[in-house]
Amino acid sequence: MKLILALIIVIVLLINSSHCFNDSKCFPLGHPCVQSYGIDISCGYGLACLPIDYNDEQSEYVCKPRIKLGEKCRESYMGSCEVGLFCLPLDLDDDNSPYTCKAANYAGAGEDCDSDFSCFGMGKFDLKCIDSKCAFSSNETLEYEKITCLSYLSCPGTQKCNFNNCYENDLSNCSSTCGPLSSLGGNCSYDSDCFIGGVCSKDGICLSRYSKKLNDSCHSNNECDLGLSCERYNETYGEDGSYEEFRKCVEIEIPNTTNCTEDGCGEFGICNGVTNICQPAKKYTNECKYAERVRDICIISNKCSFSNEFVDFESYNENSCPMKKCREEIINALIECQTIYTACD
Ligand SMILES: *[C@@H]1O[C@H](CO)[C@@H](O)[C@H](O)[C@H]1NC(C)=O
Ligand SMILES: *[C@@H]1O[C@H](CO)[C@@H](O)[C@H](O)[C@H]1NC(C)=O
Ligand SMILES: *[C@@H]1O[C@H](CO)[C@@H](O)[C@H](O)[C@H]1NC(C)=O
Ligand SMILES: *[C@@H]1O[C@H](CO)[C@@H](O)[C@H](O)[C@H]1NC(C)=O
Ligand SMILES: *[C@@H]1O[C@H](CO)[C@@H](O)[C@H](O)[C@H]1NC(C)=O
Ligand SMILES: *[C@@H]1O[C@H](CO)[C@@H](O)[C@H](O)[C@H]1NC(C)=O
Ligand SMILES: *[C@@H]1O[C@H](CO)[C@@H](O)[C@H](O)[C@H]1NC(C)=O
Ligand SMILES: *[C@@H]1O[C@H](CO)[C@@H](O)[C@H](O)[C@H]1NC(C)=O
Repeated sequence: MKLILALIIVIVLLINSSHCFNDSKCFPLGHPCVQSYGIDISCGYGLACLPIDYNDEQSEYVCKPRIKLGEKCRESYMGSCEVGLFCLPLDLDDDNSPYTCKAANYAGAGEDCDSDFSCFGMGKFDLKCIDSKCAFSSNETLEYEKITCLSYLSCPGTQKCNFNNCYENDLSNCSSTCGPLSSLGGNCSYDSDCFIGGVCSKDGICLSRYSKKLNDSCHSNNECDLGLSCERYNETYGEDGSYEEFRKCVEIEIPNTTNCTEDGCGEFGICNGVTNICQPAKKYTNECKYAERVRDICIISNKCSFSNEFVDFESYNENSCPMKKCREEIINALIECQTIYTACD
């Protein structure tokens, strides 16, 4: 259903805040810095590149302490809040309402919450905070009692939502229930339908992440081995108006600019504001794959809400089930996989 995609975008947009764990090679407090494309790896741990004077558009930027829970923030400065927090308006429907750093978007169905903000989708999709637990609640489907979920996000732990007789324009006979994820070789429509660590192929079959090699045909980046991305190499237009595109796994190229705060680093790179050189965002190592696996197993065995959609974008909020149960495994996967977390070492 369409809801799934919309929510993933929300999650990705929110979880782009970054920080260093080790500030030995980053700028210290008060050092001038350049804000580049929202992802900022120039300031050390606990700091963010922020304007000296928020009210002055010409203001210089320096490394400042990140903003704490409940304190005022400015929506335009991504990653200005402490790790696991987001700068959000008090009222999501009113852009003019004051912005503060909030714990948000970290709890799945059945998990603890303080308000709708805590639940995935922040109350905008089908999870609401009811009696301090995130629970499925959708006005649109209230009248259809056989609909018990609308996406994997309304299902607890690692499950998917199975639909029966559901049509876009007619929900009268529609029923939906949460069920186990498809295993290797099983059916899927989205990555979120597959076992944790899986990915849904073009033919609708669950594969293992990273299982395709150089020049193998592919459908999405996560099918390709680390260091490869899935790119279109030709397309055909049939006489009947049909369209088909062919994609394969190719090596990722990181721009070699020496002024990345100005030029940016493309989809797969991040700009190191200290050196002004691009680095691959993800480390292409077996240690990374192993650390992700260890993390996934921990999250699954603790029955935390989790999906393949979160692989690189899970919540780092301290109140989330994964952080409470698998903190060490999550931090280790970040250190092994995400350049941002060790760029300053
Ligand atoms: C859902 O229904 C409740 C109660 O009728 C109402 O307060 C709320 O605004 C509705 N939410 C949406 C998104 O329509
Ligand atoms: C829903 O079920 C009823 C009764 O079984 C049937 O008559 C009707 O055609 C069904 N509607 C759809 C859209 O399948
Ligand atoms: C996959 O779906 C097809 C058609 O919907 C069905 O025939 C097949 O049994 C399914 N396979 C599995 C493993 O669920
Ligand atoms: C991949 O394809 C490219 C271009 O078609 C070719 O030059 C290269 O040798 C291929 N590599 C492998 C490992 O198949
Ligand atoms: C595109 O690639 C496919 C699969 O490799 C091939 O069958 C087709 O002929 C190619 N089309 C063009 C226009 O090169
Ligand atoms: C950067 O890469 C381009 C081709 O990708 C190459 O032409 C250029 O010489 C490289 N520049 C530097 C400074 O390495
Ligand atoms: C980066 O590019 C900008 C704009 O072209 C320029 O003002 C700045 O001096 C450049 N920085 C470096 C280190 O080359
Ligand atoms: C920070 O980096 C230094 C130098 O690379 C290293 O010796 C130190 O152990 C690192 N500290 C942490 C907390 O990772």
